[in-house]
Amino acid sequence: MQRATTIAQIRTYVAEARAAGKSVGFVPTMGALHVGHVSLIEAAVRRCDYVVVSIFVNPTQFCPGEDFERYPRPFERDVELCERHGAHAIFAPSPVEMYPRKSLTWVTVEKLTEPLCGRSRPGHFRGVTTVCTKLFNIVGADVAFFGQKDAQQATVIRRMAADLNMPLEIVVCPTVREPDGLAVSSRNQYLSPQERQEAPVIYRALRRCAEMLDSGRRNAAEIARAMNEILSQVPSLQVEYVSIVDAETLEPVDQVRGRILVAVAGRLGSTRLIDNIVVDIRATEGIMAPR
Ligand code: PAJ
Repeated sequence: MQRATTIAQIRTYVAEARAAGKSVGFVPTMGALHVGHVSLIEAAVRRCDYVVVSIFVNPTQFCPGEDFERYPRPFERDVELCERHGAHAIFAPSPVEMYPRKSLTWVTVEKLTEPLCGRSRPGHFRGVTTVCTKLFNIVGADVAFFGQKDAQQATVIRRMAADLNMPLEIVVCPTVREPDGLAVSSRNQYLSPQERQEAPVIYRALRRCAEMLDSGRRNAAEIARAMNEILSQVPSLQVEYVSIVDAETLEPVDQVRGRILVAVAGRLGSTRLIDNIVVDIRATEGIMAPR
């Protein structure tokens, strides 16, 4: 596996792969890799001849007071994981390599970045869209892989790539979960043993939503109420939002119809957790149960 820390290096590696006629896949990450990230790498390896994984804890997407400093950085372990799962190159730039000067140019996606996580994390999505644009420009991949776990991020990136005619395809892969349903996240390691036990309540609330939809309920307020009731079983969980929105526009719906995103965010102690399911009420096989 090739390792690059500079933009010039990764461009050279990708240019060589392209010269050899290879298609290029890209998996952007902030490291602290886990089975969720691995699923993206594996999807990329299945689909593309040459796969680049970036590892960069992007300072511009952390809000003041967030966990930028303490974000886990187990670099050697990450490298090993990428290699073991068939990545061909990692790109792990320093903050100075990515931001050599104060940036005057930002990529902003309007509207889609306002609701849900946009409310409590001002500037977060601007940081994500800007760094992804930079990474897309640096790597020059044919396909980039994102996780459904960060549903709003995936929607925003898709829209950005479409609006700006970025010459790559965005693929969104399913959320990988722990056996008890908790969505795998680099931040789960912040949870105390007690909090870790309580955290799957979010998944239980999403399952309840899926059951209600299965039994024909369509009223969003009623479903959200039932979900909040389940979430209140863990009094230490500070619920930030339970939102039932159109999966593409992220606008709230009254009645569940078409492709709908059901998203939850909350704080357990100092750890912020998010999770979601996407349901498609038109689907003939019924709704897509949370995975
Ligand atoms: P990070 O949180 O490291 O996540 C990298 C990718 O892994 C994202 O696309 C995320 O949705 C996906 N992912 C995380 N947990 C997952 C899970 N349990 N199942 C499936 N996919 C999962 O998201 C970021 O980094 C950053 O914002 C980034 C896009 C790299 C820009 O800095």
